[in-house]
Amino acid sequence: MNDASGRPIRRAHVTGWGRYAPAQVLTNADLEKMVDTSDEWIRTRTGIRERRVAAANETTASMGAVAGLRAIHTAGIAPDDIDLILLATLTPDYWMPSTAALVKEAIGNTRATAFDVMAACSGFVYGFATAQAYIQAGLAKHVLVVGSELLTRFLDYTDRSTCILFGDGAGAVVLSASDEPGGALGVEMTTEPQGAYMIWLPAGGSKSPPSAETIARGEHYVRMEGNQTYRFATKTMATTALESIRRSGLEPADIDLFIPHQANIRIIEAVAKGLDLPMDKMFINLDRYGNTSAASVPIALAEAVNEGRVEIGDNVTIVAFGAGFTSGAVTIEWTADPARGRSADDAVRPEDVRVRLPVDWDSVDPIPDALADLMGQPGPVDVPLDDVAPGEPEHAHPHAEVPA
Ligand code: ACO
Repeated sequence: MNDASGRPIRRAHVTGWGRYAPAQVLTNADLEKMVDTSDEWIRTRTGIRERRVAAANETTASMGAVAGLRAIHTAGIAPDDIDLILLATLTPDYWMPSTAALVKEAIGNTRATAFDVMAACSGFVYGFATAQAYIQAGLAKHVLVVGSELLTRFLDYTDRSTCILFGDGAGAVVLSASDEPGGALGVEMTTEPQGAYMIWLPAGGSKSPPSAETIARGEHYVRMEGNQTYRFATKTMATTALESIRRSGLEPADIDLFIPHQANIRIIEAVAKGLDLPMDKMFINLDRYGNTSAASVPIALAEAVNEGRVEIGDNVTIVAFGAGFTSGAVTIEWTADPARGRSADDAVRPEDVRVRLPVDWDSVDPIPDALADLMGQPGPVDVPLDDVAPGEPEHAHPHAEVPA
């Protein structure tokens, strides 16, 4: 197909996908020992049964690099074929450098432009739409979009209204330019600053730099008005998805699978109801991971494809909401062989990935006190796709090679 001036229309196709989940499981029963809650309350109000906790030697960059290399393996390209790396997170390794810069080196890429995208839980969808725009503008051929979060280090384990919700993990896709039809279609994104202080992290920025006082006030933890956020999410997820579907020239009934942000099963049920669709069109894995913020959509997408829920020619809508308030949706006509992703976990092991560490500086023990016992006694690992914990990061790293 050609554009008005006769040039072929360049489209962005998903050619690679991958995800990484840390091995350590934090169950609802574990949380019962920390705060006044119950497995029954958490399951019925949120749908979450357990979530993952990153090990002390893992970071947002290390998890993002593993997921990114798995997506690159699935795409069947070399790390250096990537022109642009977009990393969505609200839990970067540092304020600077960007986590994307660390991931670029850890995956063995020497060429790409790399930067972080901050749009909280909508960050991956914002990154995906940005990648699509770069490709359509002819500015990049292969883009790696990563969502990676290490939320368990930013939670107050005395606040039962937030600490039960979130978990750690990473997911990634490769978007590649093609003249073939299909790929990413209609995009919709919204930003509503009226909700700016409904989910936020008060201290650590320029308004309130970190100090003994901000720490004493617990202002370095995620804060949330759950009810307000819930109301925003149920309203906006459906309207945002609908706009993306319409911009794709489709109707909700044409969508074969929705990959919604995995925050709360009741929110996803409300979206299904709002779009008049059965729940079996909604992919769910929040029971196993909780809310992994910007990582939730790419983890869910990779699992949905690897589990055979997506076929070539299917229409898939990814949709998220988050702090800001933000929301985003992209509808995709799937064109890649779903079987391609199934060998990625074996091909890319976490211990193959090294993230550069600073010279003459070491971090404090990053594990929150409330989780220290749990991390000292690793529990059973219930991972469908065979994750393992990564090895110790080294000071300087050899570039990880992706096996052909
Ligand atoms: N265990 C037991 N009781 C609890 C817990 C808990 N973990 N948390 C709250 N409660 C209590 C409350 O104190 C309240 O008690 P009260 O009636 O005696 O006052 C009662 O349960 C009901 O509380 P609600 O807040 O009304 O419960 P609700 O049904 O709204 O569920 C929840 C709360 C799960 C947080 C829901 O509001 C929600 O999912 N909101 C959206 C949150 C979200 O998705 N955030 C992610 C945003 S994405 C991002 O960008 C980070």
